[in-house]
Amino acid sequence: MQSLSRVAHVAILACFSLMFITKGVSTLVSKNGLSNYSFPDKFMFGVATAAFQIEGAWNEDGKGESMWDTYLHKHPNFTVDHTNGDLATDSYHKYKQDIIMLQSLGVKYYRMSISWPRILPNGTDHYINKAGVRYYRKIFQELIKAKITPVVTLFHWDLPTALMDLGGWTNPKMVDYFEDYARVVFSLFGDMVKTWTTMNELHVHCYNGYDLNAFVPAMQSHGIGVYLCSHYMLLGHARAYHLYDKEFRPKQKGKIGLTLDVFYAEPKDSNNKEDVEAAERYLQMHLGLYAHPVYSKEGDYPALVRERIDNMSRTQGYPRSRLPVFTPEEVEMVRGTSDFFGINHYTTVLASASSMEPGWLVPSLDHDAGVKSEQDPKWPIPGAFWLAVYPPGLRKIVNWITNNYGTRVPIIITENGVCDSGGLNDYERVSYYNKYLYQLLLAMHEDGCRVEGYFAWTLMDDFEWSDGYTVKFGLFHVDFNHPERKRTPKLSALNYREILRTRRINFNYIKMPSYKYNNL
Ligand code: BGC
Repeated sequence: MQSLSRVAHVAILACFSLMFITKGVSTLVSKNGLSNYSFPDKFMFGVATAAFQIEGAWNEDGKGESMWDTYLHKHPNFTVDHTNGDLATDSYHKYKQDIIMLQSLGVKYYRMSISWPRILPNGTDHYINKAGVRYYRKIFQELIKAKITPVVTLFHWDLPTALMDLGGWTNPKMVDYFEDYARVVFSLFGDMVKTWTTMNELHVHCYNGYDLNAFVPAMQSHGIGVYLCSHYMLLGHARAYHLYDKEFRPKQKGKIGLTLDVFYAEPKDSNNKEDVEAAERYLQMHLGLYAHPVYSKEGDYPALVRERIDNMSRTQGYPRSRLPVFTPEEVEMVRGTSDFFGINHYTTVLASASSMEPGWLVPSLDHDAGVKSEQDPKWPIPGAFWLAVYPPGLRKIVNWITNNYGTRVPIIITENGVCDSGGLNDYERVSYYNKYLYQLLLAMHEDGCRVEGYFAWTLMDDFEWSDGYTVKFGLFHVDFNHPERKRTPKLSALNYREILRTRRINFNYIKMPSYKYNNL
């Protein structure tokens, strides 16, 4: 079976190569399955994790509670498997093992986040938890010793409960609190950390947590809280950027940026004008809302988003738009506040126009966007229902970003990966990384997009928010029934290591049981 499928695989690759030869373009994949394009030596290859998803030690050594701790203890049924992050992968105690795993992969960059309540247990900077500081300093020291550069996110969703009690990101005071927290973190770790991202995925955080009840804080302030959250997160991000730029960068000489997220959207019917507009509207409502204020030349929310939410609010009888308004000074303050375009990307949807769908609330971000999103039944879904595999989506979103915001700053893929239901022989993950990275090579070499880094999500199976431990994204398997949380490399870890070693994709490196995983 194996050798048969390999023959088929080679045949497919040969056809593909031929297609390009006849088009007069150089062959992209050689007969032995190796991509002819390669990643530059300086390309930042890494893996990403987030504090709440791996650390555990939720109440150890003076750590305060995050809103995820508090909420999951009160509502144990919130996650599908009724679990929480109390122990997670126990990285608080096993970070040395994690660093050995990073070394074994050959990554030179590690994107991780700091737990705000581990440093500031009450959220505010009047009291700093020294044990928390020691923990992160030890990690950074070990990473540097292992020649791995830390890329550190200040906020990956685990807000201190004390601040959530004040309304979380719907409260304008959060902008000050975030700046205070950022100052503490830059002063404590800026000698060792030279690449910062302020916040992770404003869209997912505000939409799932404030519009819907899919993530904590499950606020369900649909159509209102979601935009307050977005607005104050953008302002908080910008304040942290300027703080770093003025007070810390001159000495510490690092970089600071933002991590956004988006599913790519294709028109369901590309010949239908309304579907084409719906796809663009989806991208603007999900990504442009956050990217335009920071990366566009003129700043502020995109006109399409502004008009749409303003009009909807007016017809719904609201006295003012549900989307807050930046003052001209704030527009200037937010504009240009990122040294790179960090983007997390996993999947693609097919978009068509719709004024109402079952499950939409009024008002809500979905209703404001007016886009029905579906997935092509031909796209494989190896794990969670939302994550359908469509590799060209990565090339397309990188092009969309480049077309909309230019090449002033480089793009860094700060997360990309796929989940399955577990196991060491993760052929689907091997295939996903091969194909998505191949599309990234095309975006860089064929389309001229400025992409300078890529982080696989994620180092090891972890706590996946409301999915608990039911879906697995790791390059390393974690045995959650084992008190030691034993870690074992999967096939995808071997494959990723080979990509990093050779800077190319070798579609034959892991022998696939069936060529369905291989066709490009
Ligand atoms: C988040 C991660 C999450 C991953 C997979 C991203 O939205 O940043 O925290 O685990 O997607 O769902």
